[in-house]
Amino acid sequence: MKVLIATEKPFAEAAVNGIRKIIEGAGFQLVLLEKYTDKTQLIKAVSDVDALIIRSDKIDAEVISAAPQLKIVVRAGAGYDNVDLKAATAHNVVVMNTPGQNANAVAELVFGLLVYTVRNFYNGKSGSELKGRHLGILAFGNVGRNVARIAKGFGMEVSAYDAYCPTDVIEAAGVHAAKSQDELFETCDIVSLHIPATAETNQSINRVIVGKMKKGGILINTARKEVINEPELIALMSERNDLKYITDIKPDADAEFSKFQDRYFSTPKKMGAQTTEANTNAGLAAARQIVAYINEGVTQFKVN
Ligand code: 3PG
Repeated sequence: MKVLIATEKPFAEAAVNGIRKIIEGAGFQLVLLEKYTDKTQLIKAVSDVDALIIRSDKIDAEVISAAPQLKIVVRAGAGYDNVDLKAATAHNVVVMNTPGQNANAVAELVFGLLVYTVRNFYNGKSGSELKGRHLGILAFGNVGRNVARIAKGFGMEVSAYDAYCPTDVIEAAGVHAAKSQDELFETCDIVSLHIPATAETNQSINRVIVGKMKKGGILINTARKEVINEPELIALMSERNDLKYITDIKPDADAEFSKFQDRYFSTPKKMGAQTTEANTNAGLAAARQIVAYINEGVTQFKVN
């Protein structure tokens, strides 16, 4: 069995070592393709592998077709919008994710970015504090729940809205369950996005919804760029010079957003899950899931 780690944005070394231990311990072979710059390198690397561990690496129909022996793809992370599930299913390839394994890392980054923002990007000017501010969490999955936990430590008031999460689960976490997405945007000072990129959420964060935010509102996105309607957000921020957009996923229209200077910040590369701990948690889970699937047919976390 040949297992390939294909990561354009590599795991920490400790994570790769841990994955190797599990894969080789099972009698499989591990190969690495890191920091590749061209899809042709990925296509070449998958030609003889049985299993694939990836991050946000794009696994489309062409890549799957180029891997005739491929049996399983594990996205070491939560969002699997980068994998063509239809193509995988058509080729009898199982796709899994590793939910929750990098959630704390993403949640911690939310607060790193928020402190940086309310302190005026450390430019020396007097800023403000998070304590007492009202934080709205859009989607109460693994990341959203960690964000809520940390927000309480900051002394923030916390609300969440999740169309798919029962209200009592949100309330059991000591968080106010907003009745609608509208209520969340209307009542919170800061809204943190934790929705996946799906057909339903695509460009759903638009001018109408963000326009409901109070004066001085901050929108923070550590989820996916696809959920933002970029032209509409740019138009809104041009009209309302009180709004800020902070993101861990560089928008397609980065140059246009950059015109807002002190109201916009993007990390150069998605950094949310980029910690040794998150890489290790997600990478090791991926390796274990591959071994369990190949040896015992375990399909927990299968998403197709
Ligand atoms: C995820 O979906 O798990 C996060 O967005 C992390 O993505 P990454 O592994 O590409 O950093």
